[in-house]
Amino acid sequence: MNSEHIRNFCIIAHIDHGKSTLADRLLEYTGVLTEREMKEQVLDKMELERERGITIKAQAVRLEYNGYQLNLIDTPGHVDFSYEVSRSLAACEGAILVVDASQGVEAQTLANIYLALEHDLEIIPVINKIDLPSADPDRVKAQLIDVGLEIEDTILTSAKEGTGIKEVLDAVIEQVPAPENTFNKPLRALIFDSFYDPYQGVIAYVRIKDGSIKPGQRVKMMSNNREYEVDELGIFIPDMKKTASLEAGEVGYIIAGVKDVKNCRVGDTITSADNPASEPLPGYQKIKPMVYSGLYPTDNADYGLLKDALEKLQLNDASLTFEAETSEALGFGFRVGFLGLLHMEIIQERLEREYGLELVITAPSVVYRITDQQGDMIEIENPAEFPEQNEIEIIEEPYVKAEIFLPDEYVGQAMELCQENRGEFKDMQYIDENRVKLYYEIPLSEIITDFFDLLKSKTRGYATLDYEFIGYKPSQLVKLDILLSGSPVDALSTIVHQENAGSKGRSLARKLKKLIPRQMFAVPIQAAIGSKIVARVNIKALRKNVLQKCYGGDISRKRKLLEKQKEGKKRMKRVGQVEIPQEAFMAVLQRD
Ligand code: GTP
Repeated sequence: MNSEHIRNFCIIAHIDHGKSTLADRLLEYTGVLTEREMKEQVLDKMELERERGITIKAQAVRLEYNGYQLNLIDTPGHVDFSYEVSRSLAACEGAILVVDASQGVEAQTLANIYLALEHDLEIIPVINKIDLPSADPDRVKAQLIDVGLEIEDTILTSAKEGTGIKEVLDAVIEQVPAPENTFNKPLRALIFDSFYDPYQGVIAYVRIKDGSIKPGQRVKMMSNNREYEVDELGIFIPDMKKTASLEAGEVGYIIAGVKDVKNCRVGDTITSADNPASEPLPGYQKIKPMVYSGLYPTDNADYGLLKDALEKLQLNDASLTFEAETSEALGFGFRVGFLGLLHMEIIQERLEREYGLELVITAPSVVYRITDQQGDMIEIENPAEFPEQNEIEIIEEPYVKAEIFLPDEYVGQAMELCQENRGEFKDMQYIDENRVKLYYEIPLSEIITDFFDLLKSKTRGYATLDYEFIGYKPSQLVKLDILLSGSPVDALSTIVHQENAGSKGRSLARKLKKLIPRQMFAVPIQAAIGSKIVARVNIKALRKNVLQKCYGGDISRKRKLLEKQKEGKKRMKRVGQVEIPQEAFMAVLQRD
């Protein structure tokens, strides 16, 4: 198709303003889905995603409308996946900005506007939920003008009732620029998502930026020069449909016998092997995990299953890394790298839900750099590997630049939180009359605790956080060990700042006392820094036996009690003689 008749766009919105509902309406209006076929929120494919209400993997759908080809690209909306968001936006020329008519512009709305402007996208503001009695579209329009958007006719919609949908589609055609016609240039296709299919191998979602591509053609990944032959390509309507070619401006999928998403990375450029482009498309980054945790099966016999499951998940998730590790306390397991805490939770849930595994996960850690007395530098992902304090010359930890968007009334609270987390203030900018952007440099290890949750609760949900890694800085850090019944438990060791190591040790010991169930014998808990004990508490011995209550006979009651006890045992790990529940391994993340 002539690129004049193509429009590539995405929908951006603050959470719950109606992005998915509007997307469904566009699909329905253009006949991609009949009402009967229409399941709720078709674009959010994965079950987990639907439950959590977040979009993890970008999706793409082609709509036909008035002789135009409209490609709707869905974008994930969480900081852990910010690189994927940025690549999805790079595949578009325009963005529909959905704003709730009763809530108005919120922090994420603003963050999205800036992201869209950064990618040079044409923004179409849509004021949604006008059916609500509390809707105030004039106020929202004024807010949008305030933040600097040029607005003439505002589009008012109720995605729920299906009003204003035609106007949105017409605006996409009129306002979103057609892609440049670069059909005659050498092929360049941007991979903005990919997933692994057990039958077909890796399926890459692509935006053809230049040239064209056909089945049978030899192609090359520009990041690693690997060559493949295209088996099949096509479009999403929304299921996959084969086509004879994809051309400059179009969005679709390519299958080329790639066996592993690691060789088909988001952000990479596919070019022709025979007539390669001289430069890849800009912005490609190799994604590196930011936090590492130990994953251990609660039943050691499940080690092989866990290995298989991780290998399968990795086929679909190029950012997931893992290697085998052993813990004295937990036995055989894996050290797994994640993009952030949400990514970690998603992987954990998938392993438990899709593979039926029962796991214990250790508190996430960042990668520390340690230079010893001889001047040799090592990187450490696991606190248990920390050398003896007297062997260490310099310890460095990763820092991030954090950008916090928020209404100015909460600036005080947010600054206090950053300060408490060893943040260094860098800058503060007023974006408009009462919205502020704060810049801090903060150790990554502080961000991966419950920082984001605290920030949200201190700002009544208004603040958004974005961060990027800026490098390593020296820090005064020490290892805090936990001893149960006198023996150190390697999986409970953490790295903390020297200044608050003592108080951290005391509060952690108290928390563990609450979390570790009483056993048949007393269990002393000690916190230690090197050989110095900084805290000691005791878990008293348990006297009663659960079965004592059931005076003999009643078998079914007895069984129920035992089952209940077994339930309660879920996600526990026996360390020596002591049963430790999952929560205890995460206790170091919680504040007092
Ligand atoms: P996330 O996927 O969580 O980011 O949310 P979203 O922006 O995709 O919002 P979603 O489409 O899931 O809508 C959020 C809620 O608002 C749902 O309960 C919708 O039914 C409701 N909603 C969406 N559009 C309208 C509308 O026009 N009017 C009313 N009254 N409710 C709407």
